[in-house]
Amino acid sequence: MSLNFLNFEIIRFDVLDSTNNYAANLIKASNPEEGVVILTNWQSAGKGQRGNVWQANASENLTLSVILKPEIRVRNSFQLNVVMSLAVLDTLKEFGLDAIIKWPNDIYVGNEKIAGILIENSISGDRIKYSILGLGLNVNQISFHQVNATSIAKCTGKNIELKAVEELILNHLKRSYLRLKMGQYATLKNEYYRNMLGFQEIRSYEDVSGIFDGVILGFDEQGNLKINVNQTVRTYAFKEVKFLFNSQNSSSID
Ligand code: BTN
Repeated sequence: MSLNFLNFEIIRFDVLDSTNNYAANLIKASNPEEGVVILTNWQSAGKGQRGNVWQANASENLTLSVILKPEIRVRNSFQLNVVMSLAVLDTLKEFGLDAIIKWPNDIYVGNEKIAGILIENSISGDRIKYSILGLGLNVNQISFHQVNATSIAKCTGKNIELKAVEELILNHLKRSYLRLKMGQYATLKNEYYRNMLGFQEIRSYEDVSGIFDGVILGFDEQGNLKINVNQTVRTYAFKEVKFLFNSQNSSSID
């Protein structure tokens, strides 16, 4: 299999409510081939994780959704988070930025969030029929409502051509997706671990029973986070555990 296995077809908009929503409607209406990319300059109702909104200034950032047909089992769907997270990391590296992944799929530079990923799947039996990989990557925006947000421009001091970032993301995504298709998930996962916030390190977390220190051991097949707390392994699904930014002020980076 070569990189030609996937051709991107980009559909551009000035304004959309959400690129993920547009992709979902397109899938329902026309069963598209994989590789369709929905890109917009601005979203009026951008969606984030946990029902949050994703806000990004018009024409300053990358907001896109990629439609894939990965033919993987539903229980393996976290593989797509790994594929997209690594594509973002590889892209940021091209700008000299050493980013980290905050499980499950936030990308940080230092203590500030630079990108978020929202993956939505349509399922048939135990397989993923379609996957929508939504990405919001802050590129040229300098000031944010959120306190802990950053962008490529803020980190590098340079204004960046959006088109260049778009091309890098899509190229790196093609590469990491090809690696998944070629059965190299174990190496992709190790790469995720190497760049994962808190991996094999003592940090503070919070769950329903309170604040605790633990060491991330990795995640299981379904993407559930495994944390070693006093020699007991705790397993967390999305939203069940909060990373505390630093134990001194306990600010969270949820
Ligand atoms: C998060 O960090 O909470 C995830 C943010 C995902 C935002 C992107 S922007 C493009 C795509 N369309 C959406 O409505 N959301 C995702």
